[in-house]
Amino acid sequence: MGICDATAIEVVHSDYMLANKGKEAPIRFAALAAIYDPQTIRHLETLGVACGLHCLEVGAGSGTIAKWLADRVGPTGYVLVTDVDTRFLEPLRGGPPL
Ligand SMILES: C[S@@+](CC[C@H](N)C(=O)[O-])C[C@H]1O[C@@H](n2cnc3c(N)ncnc32)[C@H](O)[C@@H]1O
Repeated sequence: MGICDATAIEVVHSDYMLANKGKEAPIRFAALAAIYDPQTIRHLETLGVACGLHCLEVGAGSGTIAKWLADRVGPTGYVLVTDVDTRFLEPLRGGPPL
């Protein structure tokens, strides 16, 4: 059976390994933010994220980068965030438009 043969594709249902619903998720997100946010932010600064830009973050997780983006683009900008599980992003709805 070749790799181009559709019958070779097997669809297996499995939960996402790092699901946000896990009780350890806040600790994992805090660790990820502590480790990766500084370099992510440096990269975004290098890209020129600035006032008024419109941004899309796919897989926004705990929202730390979404919040940074929102602060950075300011009230004239716009940040749209998505995630398969938005539970950590819901509290951000009450703030300025992301
Ligand atoms: C490690 S967090 C990334 C957080 C943030 N973007 C950052 O760079 O710090 C990964 C997030 O991606 C989400 N995710 C995984 N697969 C996804 C998909 N197919 N579509 C949207 N979000 C997804 C997960 O639910 C999780 O919240």
